[in-house]
Amino acid sequence: FNILVLNGPNLNMLGKREPTIYGAQNLDEIVTGLNEKASQQNVALSHLQSNAEHELIDAIHQSLNKIDYIIINPAAYTHTSVALRDALLAVNIPFVEVHLSNVHVRESFRHQSYLSDVAQGVICGLGPKGYEFALDYAIDSLSAQKN
Ligand code: DQA
Repeated sequence: FNILVLNGPNLNMLGKREPTIYGAQNLDEIVTGLNEKASQQNVALSHLQSNAEHELIDAIHQSLNKIDYIIINPAAYTHTSVALRDALLAVNIPFVEVHLSNVHVRESFRHQSYLSDVAQGVICGLGPKGYEFALDYAIDSLSAQKN
């Protein structure tokens, strides 16, 4: 299976950025963990972090006919980006939306997501584990389709 992990703006600052909210692990450590999990299960994992909305959109477009599943932490674009929503709908690739923090206990502007109602599922508040759970789910769901 080919699985793409996308991380939106400011997630390159993980580890340094508001550690009481986002934890001490940096993005490299998180992605290394995911790669280990993926390689044990015959999954080709690709990853992109970008602070630019159009780069995330381009990566989604390029996924067409190549990527079976997307795991995305859209970061602040969650709450603003109709364009990311439309890109995901355009390629029609199933995805899980992940947030490190529990957005529902934070500012009210974080309670709105342009992606949640078109996602297969949403994981928030579980820190970096959320990405791992999403990866497990993606693999299970793709394996079930194959059989
Ligand atoms: C976030 C939550 C968003 O509200 C915020 O803008 C982020 C990170 C999270 O992972 O908890 O940048 O997506």
